[in-house]
Amino acid sequence: MIFTELHSQVRYKTDHGLRNIIDILPNHAASLKSAMHYALLAGGKRTRPLLVYLMGETIAAEEADMLTISMAIECIHAYSLVHDDLPAMDDDDLRRGKPTCHMAYDEATAILAGDALQSLAFTLLADHPMSSFGNENRIKLVSILAKSAGYLGMCGGQAIDLQSTGRAISLAELTQLHQLKTGALLCACAEMVTTVSPGLSHIHANAFVDYARLIGLIFQIQDDILDVEGHSDVIGKPQGSDLEQGKNTFPALLGLHSAKEELAKLHQQALQALAGLPYNTEALSAFTDFVVKRDH
Ligand code: IPE
Ligand code: IPE
Ligand code: MG
Ligand code: MG
Ligand code: MG
Repeated sequence: MIFTELHSQVRYKTDHGLRNIIDILPNHAASLKSAMHYALLAGGKRTRPLLVYLMGETIAAEEADMLTISMAIECIHAYSLVHDDLPAMDDDDLRRGKPTCHMAYDEATAILAGDALQSLAFTLLADHPMSSFGNENRIKLVSILAKSAGYLGMCGGQAIDLQSTGRAISLAELTQLHQLKTGALLCACAEMVTTVSPGLSHIHANAFVDYARLIGLIFQIQDDILDVEGHSDVIGKPQGSDLEQGKNTFPALLGLHSAKEELAKLHQQALQALAGLPYNTEALSAFTDFVVKRDH
């Protein structure tokens, strides 16, 4: 099947699953519920679920497990974007071509929507139907996602991003920032899928996680590049927001040309990491190209 078809299928399954989960919530806090729906279902690319499915299909994970993991990771991702856009953080008013959550609702509702989406992610891992395993594996998944979302992962990276805004940092510090704020959740996708694939050797499981680590960095470098040369109507976010705020990005530190060279180097490294695996990694190679070449 061609990559674009696989991508639309994953988007459909993830959107459908998440819509059902939100729809069945009771209506005692209708505007919070509506803000959660808005943040989760306003047109994300579902890049993280795509990684979960492509990796899972490569190593024969069960469909129900891939769906639950995908929905949980998208709840954390959506919460991270809602909070990232708040006035206290990046103060952006456009996301996925629509007003950001705090603009469409209000700040308090957006903060609560982020909070509630974060806890929904863990509810899904703890309670939602999964095929292959029992409580021991559920605890492992909760632990992986919690670590990647918290101080040791996304939140830690967001804190470094904020505290270093407007001040020059080294390439090593910028790489750590990107690996934490964006890479950690992509690594968690690989760690969770390999956890539910018991036939996989430790060496190969680690190799998939190493590949996902490269994808995390690649994903954020391309995000930085799109802030410079994308168009707001295509990227769906305010173009130039990083520059305006003095954010630390690859183009700001290295210049646009060298940032693109670094991206090309990491692209090749990621393809090589896949080539070393004894699996059919054609779809993951296409995914790697998609992450590098995406225009939004
Ligand atoms: C944007 O993520 C934030 C970053 C981590 C760079 P995505 O580009 O995956 O956002 P959506 O979900 O597709 O809108
Ligand atoms: C966001 O990084 C990473 C998150 C943890 C949300 P950015 O601030 O660059 O993401 P965008 O450009 O607003 O999507
Ligand atoms: Mg940010
Ligand atoms: Mg931002
Ligand atoms: Mg950005």
